[in-house]
Amino acid sequence: MSLALRIILTRCGKKFWAAKIGRMQHLTTFTECTMPGDSKVDAAVISDALQTRSQSQITFQSDGFDPWRVQPIKHRLSDHPLLQMPQLLALADRLDVMGSIRTHSNDAAAGTPFNDATRLYPNTRSAAQTLAEINDAKAFLSLLNVQIDPLYREFVGTILDGVRPLLEPCDPGMCYRGGWIFVSSPHTVTPFHFDKEHNFLLQIRGKKRVYVWDANDTVVANELARDRFHHCHERKLLVWNEAFRERAQVFDLRPGEGAYMPSTSPHMVENGDQTSVTMSFTYYTDSTRRNALLHKAHAMLREMGFVPPPVGTSSFLDDGLLLLAQARRLWRRLARRGGESGTTAYAEDDR
Ligand SMILES: [Fe+2]
Repeated sequence: MSLALRIILTRCGKKFWAAKIGRMQHLTTFTECTMPGDSKVDAAVISDALQTRSQSQITFQSDGFDPWRVQPIKHRLSDHPLLQMPQLLALADRLDVMGSIRTHSNDAAAGTPFNDATRLYPNTRSAAQTLAEINDAKAFLSLLNVQIDPLYREFVGTILDGVRPLLEPCDPGMCYRGGWIFVSSPHTVTPFHFDKEHNFLLQIRGKKRVYVWDANDTVVANELARDRFHHCHERKLLVWNEAFRERAQVFDLRPGEGAYMPSTSPHMVENGDQTSVTMSFTYYTDSTRRNALLHKAHAMLREMGFVPPPVGTSSFLDDGLLLLAQARRLWRRLARRGGESGTTAYAEDDR
């Protein structure tokens, strides 16, 4: 076992929390936003809209917030100027240049492998063209990591700043904050999948049905699938089954409504008969990082021939793995001598 633990210590050196989207080297400051056709977004209106730090735009049920429980939420962002079609079209243009767009046609189904959907069912239009024709485009378009755009970086930070005081007592350590905007044609499906972040999914325009399964539902996503996902972002072991629908919490979302999905809660989305705009605000916390690290370590143990008990069932093993990981991180920090340089692509500096 000691050899195995030494190997874990070494392999944990791979940067587990490396930013998925790299570091932006040339961020600029926006004072106004120019859109196709030379129309301009009123900078003062956007500035006013961003001045909402003192009040949460997202609200929970009266029985409180549990960070590991799927739950309905409400929000007040449907009329936000940054979430209207002209501004989204301008943002799509800017993100397209940076390669921060994901899109596929509406041929993708619930059981389409999520990681392969863009290759299997490509949408050949540009992002801007897709948005301009979204009612008839038969396409799903995701604006990825919108916080890499300076204007939306402030937006993401503002909204999550507002909700942070409500979360911190029960789920401290919010970090790596991001935003994702999904625009989809009528009758478009987002295939079954899960993600690593906690997620406030807010419906802005149109209607959609969202199926969400508990983060600890091992029938829908077993321990091995979770280990592999955290280890190498692989989703192959998360396989759709129509029977799963009966196990899901189902949200029929309209503007002003949303769903909170804890880290690795499997989900699948079916758009209604209208164009839909949805925004996700995502982040990690101390607990999501701990959970991810343990799954990753367990995946490594499996590769060495061990069969670890499920994460959370052996405090002796879990505590030992965390201790090793922390020791490795401390060593790397000391060896770095002065830290990294550059600008993080997330909505705040987390280093
Ligand atoms: Fe997702």
